[in-house]
Amino acid sequence: MSIMQMLREKAKTNVKTIVLPEGDEARTVKAAAILKAEGIARPVLLGNTEKVAFAAKEAGADISGICVVDPETSEKTKVYAEELYELRKSKGISPEDALKLVKDSMYYGIMMVKTGDADGLVSGAVHTTGDMLRPALQIIKTKPGCKVVSSAFLMDCPNKSLGENGLLVYSDCVVMPNPSAEELAHIAVSAAETAKTLCGIQEPRVAMLSFSTKGSAKHELVSKVQQATQLAHELRPDLLLDGEMQFDAAIVPEVGQSKAKGSPVAGRANVLVFPDLQAGNIGYKITQRIGGAECFAVLQGLAKPCNDLSRGCSVDDIVTTVAATAVQAQ
Ligand SMILES: CC(C)(COP(=O)(O)OP(=O)(O)OC[C@H]1O[C@@H](n2cnc3c(N)ncnc32)[C@H](O)[C@@H]1OP(=O)(O)O)[C@@H](O)C(=O)NCCC(=O)NCCS
Repeated sequence: MSIMQMLREKAKTNVKTIVLPEGDEARTVKAAAILKAEGIARPVLLGNTEKVAFAAKEAGADISGICVVDPETSEKTKVYAEELYELRKSKGISPEDALKLVKDSMYYGIMMVKTGDADGLVSGAVHTTGDMLRPALQIIKTKPGCKVVSSAFLMDCPNKSLGENGLLVYSDCVVMPNPSAEELAHIAVSAAETAKTLCGIQEPRVAMLSFSTKGSAKHELVSKVQQATQLAHELRPDLLLDGEMQFDAAIVPEVGQSKAKGSPVAGRANVLVFPDLQAGNIGYKITQRIGGAECFAVLQGLAKPCNDLSRGCSVDDIVTTVAATAVQAQ
């Protein structure tokens, strides 16, 4: 069973309420109909009720029985505005600004998650990554003990000898353009947790990637990864984590054996931590486009699950991401 199918099945075992702020968007209404029909989640669609109904009719999606909320007119809008004002007044927000913001579906959805009226949120079929991330970072914040929010791409590779039966977790490929050594250490710990709790990988083996393996090159960029490796060990001494190492040393047993002999991770890594966003974002796209991997991303390190879609996403991508969000909420 692929990771995508596994998450859908797992989501059904403890059904969660997931809010979809882009409720008047064609792919979103179609996905909502599937989520309800298959019992993967209880979707809540946000938007003008007439526009949502029109989008569903145009898309041929049956959204009967699905909760639709208009942030402009909802009875909760005022309550959320007051709560948002309290949360952000130290940042200079006024009560009027807060009311204006929660009438925006993205902020309304985030407030639903913050207050527990929804278990998670999925957005990004229309919004950019930054527009989706900013309210989540400002309002939901990081989970205790975690310094940064980052992302993990779950890469389902055709070559099943790689990683964990073909599954590799890549991090971070979406959020932090240039993490410090400390931030990179937190990204590594989060990625190991995602591998374990979301993907069911019993033994995450984390490789801290670089263009150098075990001091083969000397450069400040290499030093950052070496320092991050040390800090990650201090944060989680129990984790199987090693670095710095090159991509081939991380995933090819013979190369790992020759370049990093004795490493508990080299050659058999299932979690790959990239040194910055340029490497991570390019890396996942190479694996997807040339390597033929199926993939999708989740955010990690947030206190409550909120996930971003690519604007080019399919209906199927939305269903999978909602399933993953629901499993994170379990
Ligand atoms: C994540 C991102 C949206 C942050 O946007 P920003 O405008 O720089 O945000 P700011 O620095 O003003 O921070 C906003 C808040 O989020 C917090 N924050 C920012 N990045 C964070 C992170 N990675 N983890 C936790 N909190 C974070 C800040 O502390 C700040 O909190 P505060 O307002 O309570 O003080 C930005 O880093 C970004 O655009 N990343 C790249 C996303 C992208 O385009 N990816 C493309 C690949 S698909």
